[in-house]
Amino acid sequence: MKVAIGSDHAGYRQKGEVAALIKDLGHEVTDFGTHSEESVDYPDFALRVAQAVSQGEADLGVLVCGTGLGMAIAANKVKGIRAVTCGDTFSARASREHNDANVLCIGARVTGGGLALDIVKTWLESEFQGGRHVRRVNKISEIESANLESCC
Ligand code: RB5
Repeated sequence: MKVAIGSDHAGYRQKGEVAALIKDLGHEVTDFGTHSEESVDYPDFALRVAQAVSQGEADLGVLVCGTGLGMAIAANKVKGIRAVTCGDTFSARASREHNDANVLCIGARVTGGGLALDIVKTWLESEFQGGRHVRRVNKISEIESANLESCC
């Protein structure tokens, strides 16, 4: 798979560990930054990764910030993105199997390195189950389309 990754300064170090893991798992990584611990604004990086996924340049995306929250809020503004913040492997697996999440957000100040890597591995190895979940995910897309029509 092609996996787009990004972080802000708070997630920069953990992003490096995440990138190494994803490569070890045999996937292709595109790193959209940031590239140092200098303070930056997380929405800029959420947008780059979310657009890569939305436009089909990447299959999935992983974002790391301090809490994983701002990244998810920002990424979910991009059409077609279902971004989730996960701090445990059960939620990570369910977010792929039930919600067809396409962007995973991790909070480096919340979730330690070992657990964070387990979460990323679990998430990448889990697959959307389809079936009854398709109808529900389609309803999320319908909400998105309705909002776009009413606002523009
Ligand atoms: C940066 O201080 C912090 O606000 C950011 O990494 C993230 O936690 C935002 O949601």
